[in-house]
Amino acid sequence: MKLYIDTANLEAIREGMKYYPLIGVTTNPTLLSREGGDPVETLKAIRALIGEDRQLHVQVTETEADKMVEEARAIVALLGKNTFIKVPVGEVGLQVTAALAALGIGVTETAIFTAGQALLAARAGASYVAPYVNRLDNILADGVAVVRDIADTFAMHDIDTEVLAASFKSPEQVIRVALAGGHTATLPPDVLKGLLTHPLTGAAIDSFAADWNNAFGGKTLREMLNK
Ligand code: G3P
Repeated sequence: MKLYIDTANLEAIREGMKYYPLIGVTTNPTLLSREGGDPVETLKAIRALIGEDRQLHVQVTETEADKMVEEARAIVALLGKNTFIKVPVGEVGLQVTAALAALGIGVTETAIFTAGQALLAARAGASYVAPYVNRLDNILADGVAVVRDIADTFAMHDIDTEVLAASFKSPEQVIRVALAGGHTATLPPDVLKGLLTHPLTGAAIDSFAADWNNAFGGKTLREMLNK
């Protein structure tokens, strides 16, 4: 399962890109609003930070089909290749998805909560569908089961649209989504860090260092090799 970072915070993106194997950044109107300032400048700064080869997903804010298409074209013109347009699922969303796909613009259908929505989005031409895992879990539904249903449906019918699972609150949800066949997932910075962290890892590294230093007087292997 390939991973994105789900934030518009430049410092979090800089740190994420430095340390983590990420294929891109996903944003949405809420994430951009949290950063304040000029969202156009923020998006340009994100693109400059991640380079042209990583993906950047940006959601339309217009609600009428023609304006959504115009807005999407302007976003891609500004941010260049590997920019995907997030379109909220719905009747207009499907219409816009088909129009953007016909223009060769990649679409991520967002605000997906059922496999039925995902199937329609895929057939309309979406490159990705984004089911919201934690928001389903929050209402005592099963976000992982929805991801599994979508992934199984796509596989069964040779649909090459990928699941881009979103809305995570825990590392456990991420692994369960991976095991359910999710192709990609976008994680907030704290969940990304949580996926890496384990207390036994720190303890193991500390004991390796202590044993080595006790035996070899604090000299590293590099220093010994270079003598
Ligand atoms: O883009 C959708 C995703 O960011 C939603 O996450 O945490 O607001 O449910 P959350």
